Amino acid sequence: MNSATQTIDFTDNARRAVHGTCPPSCSAFPPVLDACCGGRMMWFDKKDERAVFVDRRRETQQADKRPGRSALVVDPDHLADFTDLPFPSDTFYHVVFDPPHCFRNGKTSRMHAVYGTLTGDWREMLRKGFAECFRVLRPGGTLVFKWADEDVLAREILALTPEHPLYGHKSGRLNRTHWIAFLKPNAEHQARCRAGL
Ligand SMILES: C[S@@+](CC[C@H](N)C(=O)[O-])C[C@H]1O[C@@H](n2cnc3c(N)ncnc32)[C@H](O)[C@@H]1O
Repeated sequence: MNSATQTIDFTDNARRAVHGTCPPSCSAFPPVLDACCGGRMMWFDKKDERAVFVDRRRETQQADKRPGRSALVVDPDHLADFTDLPFPSDTFYHVVFDPPHCFRNGKTSRMHAVYGTLTGDWREMLRKGFAECFRVLRPGGTLVFKWADEDVLAREILALTPEHPLYGHKSGRLNRTHWIAFLKPNAEHQARCRAGL
């Protein structure tokens, strides 16, 4: 087939990859976890079946009061805390972690409604969140961390995890939003390579 004209249905391919070829022990979960999905604004398809969506809240509200703006819908598949995820270890091929990043949002602000707000011992919350996201990530899997350094610099947050980022990209207004990729080491694979197997 001419690769230039070939069309690929990524959703169907991914579904086949997960439900068609995996052993029964791992077929219960799609390959991707969004650990704090909010209104899923960053998703091209908010109902993407390749992902499991988690958040600690479920609500619908008119966050943007301007006329004609649609309501914010936060409707996770699992109501859960990213510091204590209800999934077995080594489950997902990819995890995206986009926690709240501001602590100065007003309680009635759009920012608070859409992104949530850092309160209490938020450093400990993010440290545990990173640890949990890495626990449920498969060895060899990737994690993307999103952070806007409006109140706290990204490098301070990266110090909360012992994992080493691979690379990052800045985007958004004034380039304050960072998208940072991680890889979970595959110790078994590394040991086999070292042993020459
Ligand atoms: C920055 S927003 C995510 C926005 C989302 N990525 C999107 O595309 O719309 C952060 C989300 O984390 C959720 N959240 C905050 N603390 C959490 C926790 N401990 N466990 C799970 N979700 C949490 C908030 O409810 C909020 O929806």
